[in-house]
Amino acid sequence: MIIDKNQAFQLLRDGEVVSLPTETVYGLAARIDHEKAISKIFTTKERPSFDPLIIHVSGIDMAKEFVSSWSSKLGSLCEKFWPGPLTIVLPKNSKVSSQITSGQPTVAIRCPDHPIFLEMIQKLGVPLAAPSANKFGKTSPTCVEHVLEEFEGKVPVVDGGPCKLGIESTIIQLHDDGLEVLRPGTLGTKDISQIIPGISVQLREKNHLPGGLENHYQPAKPLILFSKEILIEKLPSYLQDKSYGELQLNENHSLAARELYGQLRLLSKSTEYSFIVLKNFEQYQKKSSWTPIVDRLLKASSSIF
Ligand code: TXA
Ligand code: MG
Repeated sequence: MIIDKNQAFQLLRDGEVVSLPTETVYGLAARIDHEKAISKIFTTKERPSFDPLIIHVSGIDMAKEFVSSWSSKLGSLCEKFWPGPLTIVLPKNSKVSSQITSGQPTVAIRCPDHPIFLEMIQKLGVPLAAPSANKFGKTSPTCVEHVLEEFEGKVPVVDGGPCKLGIESTIIQLHDDGLEVLRPGTLGTKDISQIIPGISVQLREKNHLPGGLENHYQPAKPLILFSKEILIEKLPSYLQDKSYGELQLNENHSLAARELYGQLRLLSKSTEYSFIVLKNFEQYQKKSSWTPIVDRLLKASSSIF
C-alpha cells in the first residue's frame, strides 16, 4: 500500500514499520526507541538478529546524542557529506539498544539525503533505524514498485520517486592506523581522503561486516559473471541449454549504479530467461570508480568465469 507522508508520520510515531525513500535505496524504517517496531524490521526482512541496523539521524547534533565519543575526523566528513551516502561507525551509548547493534559496542549512523526521510526524523525527534527494504540477502529496492513487489500487504511505503544513487551508502570506521571502508559506496575513498589529508583509507578486502555474507544482493535468478566473453561451455550442464538475459551496464558508473538493481529485478522477472549473464566483467574491476558496483556484482553473482 502506498501512503502519504502524513500517514507515514502517524504510523512511525505509533511504533509501526514504514518503508521510506532515501537517495541510496528504499529503507524499512522504525523509531529506534520502540523495541517491538525494531523486532518487526528483523522479522519482516527475515534478517538474522546478528546483523545490526544503521540508525538515521537528521544531522551531526542528533548523531552526537547516541555515541559515547565523537571523532573530529569523522565529524569533518559528516560536515562535508551529510546529508548523503556516508555511514559512520562509532562507539554507542546507552540510548541505542543492543537489539539495534546486535550486541556490538558500536553503532552505524547516517543522515539520508531525502526530504521525506529527513522530515520524518525531524518531526519525530528520534532517529529511525532502517535497513534496505528487501528480504535478507536479496536485491535492494530503488523505487516504490520494488518495495511493493517485496512487501505488498505487509509494510506501507511512501513514494519518493526513484533513488538517485541506487546502491547503499559507504560505511566507514576509524581505527588508530587510519580509516577502513567496511562497505564501498558511491562516495569513494578519494572523496574521503581529500577531506582528511594524509589519512590512510583501506578497503576491506573481504566483507567482514557483521551479518555480511559472501552472497548478498542476490537477484531471483542466478547471475553469472564472465571476465571476458560469454563461454557457455563453462557453465554447469543443466544451464547449457537454457536461455539467458544479458545485463547491460551503462558506461557511466553513476548511471550504472542507479540502474543496477532495477535491471537485475527486470531480468529476473522475465519468463524468457533462466539466468542472467554479464560479460567483460574484468573491465570494471580495473577502474576504481566502479569499486562499489564490482562489490555488489560479486556478492550478487553465483559464479565467475
Ligand atoms: O544506504 C544505506 O545504507 C541503506 C539506506 C536504507 O540507508 N541502508 C542499508 O542498510 O543498506 P542495511 O541494513 O541493508 O545494511 C547495513 C549494513 C549491514 O551490512 C550491517 O552489517 C552494517 O551495515 N552495520 C550496521 N551496524 C554496524 C556496526 N555497528 N558496525 C559495522 N557494520 C555495521
Ligand atoms: Mg541491505
